[in-house]
Amino acid sequence: CAAAGEGGSQAACHLPQSKRFSALGQKGATLWMTGLSGSGKSTIATALEERLVLERGKHVYRLDGDNIRTGLNRDLDFTDDDRAESVRRVGEVACLFSDSGTITIVSLVSPFRGDRDEVRARHEQQGIPFYEVFMDVSLDVVRERDPKGLYKQVDAGKIKGFTGVDAPYEPPMDPEIRLPNSEMTVEQCVAALMRALEAGGVLE
Ligand code: PPS
Repeated sequence: CAAAGEGGSQAACHLPQSKRFSALGQKGATLWMTGLSGSGKSTIATALEERLVLERGKHVYRLDGDNIRTGLNRDLDFTDDDRAESVRRVGEVACLFSDSGTITIVSLVSPFRGDRDEVRARHEQQGIPFYEVFMDVSLDVVRERDPKGLYKQVDAGKIKGFTGVDAPYEPPMDPEIRLPNSEMTVEQCVAALMRALEAGGVLE
């Protein structure tokens, strides 16, 4: 928990966040990747994880559809309410992981601005660095990529309420990081994220 006096909303605890981070030699932080299906969230999250773990020896954990929708969120569907609840839950888990000193990389479509803003506020309340990372790729590009063949299924009428097609996606107004990754290599995206973490003091 964040200690009283450090902006924490939870009860005072024995081990203040700053002491934990300094003893571990690592600061926790959350990188929240948002964007359309096929916008590269998981690809870049995985590449960043590898760089942070293998080259910097950092403790990192990814939270994404693969390990969330089959477990923590297995009771949730793709209605607006369920998507909001998914973002809320993953936001809370990310806060806890990051408060523990882990660099937490979330990749969720998370289509609603208000839901993401609430997650940001929860991090700010607890003094945890939060980076909203907007995978800024057009619908035309993700349709063309269609890595899971889902857009084809949408066009065939087999999936309804698909984000960006017949369900809304609200892009961030002021993200910490914007990655127009159809014009960038994965390596350039990872480098931009590393620079942001360095500039924010998460990485020394
Ligand atoms: S959300 O909106 O944040 O709750 O979505 P998320 O948990 O990230 O799951 C998105 C992935 O689920 C698949 N999928 C859908 N996406 C959007 N809309 C609908 N209706 C839908 N149905 C299934 C799809 O594979 C998403 O892909 P990725 O590429 O992993 O984002």
